[in-house]
Amino acid sequence: MCSTLILLFLYNNLLDPLITTRLQSDLTRILRTSRDYGELQHVWKMWRHASGRRVRDHYKLFVRLANKAAKLNGFDNMGDMWLYPYESDTFREDMEELWGQLRPLYQQLHAYVRRKLREQYGEQYVSKRGPIPAHLLGNMWSQSWNEVYSIAIPYQGKSHVDVTPQMVQQNYTPRKMFELSDEFFGSLNLTKMPPEFWTESIIEKPKERDIICHASAWDFCNGKDFRVKQCTVVTMKDLITVHHEMGHIEYYLQYKHQPEVFRTGSNPGFHEAVGDVLALSVATPKHLAKVGLLDEVHDDDEADINFLMNMALDKITFLPFGYLMDNWRWDVFSGKTPEKDWNCAWWNLRYNIQGIKPPVQRSEFDFDPGAKYHIPANVPYIRYFVSYVVQFQFHKALCMKAGQYDPQDPSKPLHKCDIYQSTEAGNALGDLLKLGSSVKWPEAMAALTGGRRMDASVIREYFKPLETWLMNDNQKHGEFVGWETDEVLCTSDGPREAATGEPSSATTLVPAGPLYLLLFLLMGLLLSHRS
Ligand SMILES: *[C@@H]1O[C@H](CO)[C@@H](O)[C@H](O)[C@H]1NC(C)=O
Ligand SMILES: [Zn+2]
Repeated sequence: MCSTLILLFLYNNLLDPLITTRLQSDLTRILRTSRDYGELQHVWKMWRHASGRRVRDHYKLFVRLANKAAKLNGFDNMGDMWLYPYESDTFREDMEELWGQLRPLYQQLHAYVRRKLREQYGEQYVSKRGPIPAHLLGNMWSQSWNEVYSIAIPYQGKSHVDVTPQMVQQNYTPRKMFELSDEFFGSLNLTKMPPEFWTESIIEKPKERDIICHASAWDFCNGKDFRVKQCTVVTMKDLITVHHEMGHIEYYLQYKHQPEVFRTGSNPGFHEAVGDVLALSVATPKHLAKVGLLDEVHDDDEADINFLMNMALDKITFLPFGYLMDNWRWDVFSGKTPEKDWNCAWWNLRYNIQGIKPPVQRSEFDFDPGAKYHIPANVPYIRYFVSYVVQFQFHKALCMKAGQYDPQDPSKPLHKCDIYQSTEAGNALGDLLKLGSSVKWPEAMAALTGGRRMDASVIREYFKPLETWLMNDNQKHGEFVGWETDEVLCTSDGPREAATGEPSSATTLVPAGPLYLLLFLLMGLLLSHRS
């Protein structure tokens, strides 16, 4: 957003982001590659010890200050302020409904992956009917389960879904990855990246200094300077991220003629969806073959299921996580979840929505939400959930325009659609992007898809062959779909409250050192789109 209508007190220094990034690459690698239960448990636990636990007190202060700022802006609390761009009185209910649409598919996937993990680690670690231990899913926050694909693969030895080896072999560079993405946008008759983008962006980790590597895209609001910052590594995962970030830039480019107040997405979720929509085409074996990253495309049911499983381990597993992050924060900001329950409320959501459990019992001495970047960095998160829903709606609409999807034609399923080189699809997407936030999002949605609502049924449509396969497979193995437990995952033990009640004046909120309190405009947060 190029105009700063809203002021915010930002309490910085909650968690030195450099600590986060430095620790992360090692830990991320262990989480991804280790199959040693004890090692994974140790790393999972110690990361939370070093990060979340340390920011709990800071976060307490932060919530008060954030709410104070929200009130000054006319909102009840910061959670309400975050929902403002969605222009809906029923937003929370709508999100709950979307999640309700998705839960049956997620539960089938959950039951299947739990069986595979049980076969890998043994029933003493992964029980038949319980939640999945959070540290076994290949990701520090269990938010995306791609890294357990090799454990969960339905048909061993069929098709390669990860083209990283080919990229390395063909001497791909970060620059080449960005050019490939730019070429895709161009093929749709969308705007190519301007010269400033190529000269000013940081697309590789600088050798001489430390930077925050979390990928982001920036609109400098002068109509010509748009940049990405990404420590790109030559992997397929990063190729997808390149498209994601460039999607933000494309949006900036398309709405740059709008008055400043409208230079933002129809809603924040739309902004996150643009690049991902293209990536849904890019990831298809057909497209990867077209750009020379796959030699042969296996076109049979088993290869199809493998492909969809890989997509599901990214997209479907993220949905509950994307949904719960702000569910937790909305209730924290509103005070519905008191500070003494913060961590256990977190684990309630993690258990109920994701069906996972911590590898060791948690308490209110811990602060596990704080171990996830977006919480101390204070980046709203429901936008990613929204994005994962609407990107499939957009994809479907564009695929139909491109003549790549026909619900009546079994030879053209949605998951095989590639909109590459379709100017019909590109022009339709461009029409949506050009609007910026000048119309309410349901209007923009209707212009592209014909419907005014967010609708998760398109995700079910996309994954239909996989869902059917999962139901059969779970039935065949007599798997319990869902989860239950008697275990206490989190106890209310915690530090004793020194004082109760709200402080009576602003001065008691402010710690002595000037180091701790930075007061500034929301500029940075509003301008950037982080990952
Ligand atoms: C490409 O987009 C421009 C507007 O941005 C439009 O005028 C032109 O007709 C489009 N080309 C095709 C082939 O659709
Ligand atoms: Zn993003």
